Amino acid sequence: MEGIRNWEEADRRYIWHPAMQMKDNEVFPPVVIDHAKGMYLYGTNGKKYLDIISSWWCNLLGHANPEINAAVKKQVDELEHVIFTNFSHKPAIQLAYELEKLLPAGLCRFSFHDNGSSAVEAAMKMAFQYHYQTGHSERTKFMCLPESYHGETIGALSVGSLDLYAKIFNPMLMHNIHFDGLDCYRCPYGKDREHCDIECFESAEKAFEKYGKETVAMIVEPILQGAAGMRIYPPKYLKKIRELCDYYGVLLIDDEIAAGFGRTGKFFAIEHAGVSPDILCTSKGLTGGYMPMSLTITTDKIYNAFYDDYGTHKAFVHSHTYAGNPMACSIALTVLKIIKRDHILERVNENGKYLHNELMKTLGHHKNVGEIRHIGLINAIELVADPGTKKAFPAEKRVGWHVFRKAMDLGLVLRPMGDVIYFNPPLNIEKKELDLAIKLCREAVISVLGE
Ligand SMILES: Cc1ncc(COP(=O)(O)O)c(C=O)c1O
Repeated sequence: MEGIRNWEEADRRYIWHPAMQMKDNEVFPPVVIDHAKGMYLYGTNGKKYLDIISSWWCNLLGHANPEINAAVKKQVDELEHVIFTNFSHKPAIQLAYELEKLLPAGLCRFSFHDNGSSAVEAAMKMAFQYHYQTGHSERTKFMCLPESYHGETIGALSVGSLDLYAKIFNPMLMHNIHFDGLDCYRCPYGKDREHCDIECFESAEKAFEKYGKETVAMIVEPILQGAAGMRIYPPKYLKKIRELCDYYGVLLIDDEIAAGFGRTGKFFAIEHAGVSPDILCTSKGLTGGYMPMSLTITTDKIYNAFYDDYGTHKAFVHSHTYAGNPMACSIALTVLKIIKRDHILERVNENGKYLHNELMKTLGHHKNVGEIRHIGLINAIELVADPGTKKAFPAEKRVGWHVFRKAMDLGLVLRPMGDVIYFNPPLNIEKKELDLAIKLCREAVISVLGE
């Protein structure tokens, strides 16, 4: 573009990037990406980077996927956008029709939004209004898991339990119920996630006993708590949450924004527990990481509590300008077509096992690897000062960040969460690309921490 000679310098001058301390740019400036293809990002600096984190966990089928590109190009010539109140269009209707076949039983009413956080906001409002309109205005609170993350708007932060995102905003947030437990790596009961009797569930039971009757909904990240450091918890925990919700009349909101669309080896992660939620939120993989779109999907039972004569004012008055964007819908339809046709879930499960075994062989015995936890293609490596005691590194050492920097030098995008580095690649990644990522990851870890 005319007028800009140095992209890095112009970036520093103008752009306030998300989720980072901008001063870090002095030593580690953002890489300006020129273009991308498949698993790789290509920088204006002439280097290429293997995108093992799917660009914030959303790229599902590779960058610049030719079939998805073709779908957008076709759609943009037909209908780029239309107001979604009083109007509809074929791609949105078709998407709901196709998705219903894949969703947990009972989910059949689709509300369209812009991104993950807005789907969560809509779910919370929908759940609240449902109770209000069915004679339970005493229900005003939400319950959430420890270390939960559901986005960064005010409502979504209110059901998040991570201080990193929420603490400073505490005075602005709703006072919800956050209970303890679920740290399977550092289990206070000395158990491991494969063999425990979910002893930590007692904390959920106590919370329901005390607050169940004033609670609107319990919100969960199913099986996988991404932002907490790719924590993985046993499906039976989720099954028991469903039972508690039923007993106390609390709705269950299933936030599949990170875990859905095959990331955990099932289409939706809640399938691992064999239960259905009352409301399900999905985004990210929904559009293959191409465009912001999300869905809040619910049951007829909830939908019907809003369906009445105009004058009763029971409608769900919640809208976003870009709700149901036709380009995003036609992308999502193409994503579904590819997942089915190319047996993507089978590939995830096969390659997921391969990746985990290879990572265990390569890094499993490293002196600072505490745990390599995995589900689907996701593998998270928790780096610790001492695996024997599970003692963490002092936060100020920023071990994960240094590994990230080194990996970037080597051509691998391995953005950490604290000292947890992770693989969460596009689902159609090939074994040769996994092999390269493992090799570069090992080099980065050894360069920072030694052999
Ligand atoms: C589980 C979960 N919920 C909600 C969100 C928020 O989505 P968005 O960043 O699109 O607002 C995220 C984002 O990572 C997420 O992982």
